[in-house]
Amino acid sequence: MKKYSNVFVFDHPLIKHKIAILRDKNTGMKEFRELVEEITTMMTYESMRDVELVPVEVQTPLETTTQYKVPEESIAIVPILRAGLGMVNGVHKVFPTARVGHIGMYRDEETMQPQEYYCKLPDGIENKTVFLVDPMLATGGSICDALAALKKRGCRKIKVMSIIAAPEGVKTVAEAYPEIPVYISTLDRGLNEHCYILPGLGDAGDRLFGTK
Ligand code: PRP
Ligand code: URA
Repeated sequence: MKKYSNVFVFDHPLIKHKIAILRDKNTGMKEFRELVEEITTMMTYESMRDVELVPVEVQTPLETTTQYKVPEESIAIVPILRAGLGMVNGVHKVFPTARVGHIGMYRDEETMQPQEYYCKLPDGIENKTVFLVDPMLATGGSICDALAALKKRGCRKIKVMSIIAAPEGVKTVAEAYPEIPVYISTLDRGLNEHCYILPGLGDAGDRLFGTK
């Protein structure tokens, strides 16, 4: 696949270890949910290397010192429903006060086109760094539509985080939004005729929530 300067694939051995368990069809719902959360937390650390810090004065037991912190209220999380919900706690572990917006989308099973059914975003989101999260980036249709909704709302600083991606979807998102960084844990081989990622992990929403 062509290299895109806005796409970052994590190559961390612990993420690889956890993804191996996540893919296993014998991994049950509870462990699956915990793994999605843990992987997301690791991805959040890695994807925030460029976070802007503000100076703060801290009184230690010995003296006053200038230290650096992430500004309050500067982060928002937007999961794409349903499967993106599984990643929210993983970001919250790092940024517990982040506000959460929700974008509801499902893929039409005939056309594979995303259909938006819900959108509720927190006030002031346009001034925050927004983590758009969805564990699966398959054709890229859902992420592209969600990015369009966030842009329409005025968001300027957005980071996409997906755990597993197909080259087809990465190309679509990276070329449609070259200014937006896309962080993925692993790049898979491709899509099958039903637009499922191979080798993938199956239907992330169903595995997270025990449906089907
Ligand atoms: C899945 C997944 C993504 C989308 C990815 O959602 O969680 O949102 O498909 O596919 P795309 O890149 O081709 O758009 P799904 O439609 O299965 O809904 P769900 O999360 O409610 O299960
Ligand atoms: N959505 C999923 O949950 N899994 C895939 O493989 C593709 C889209």
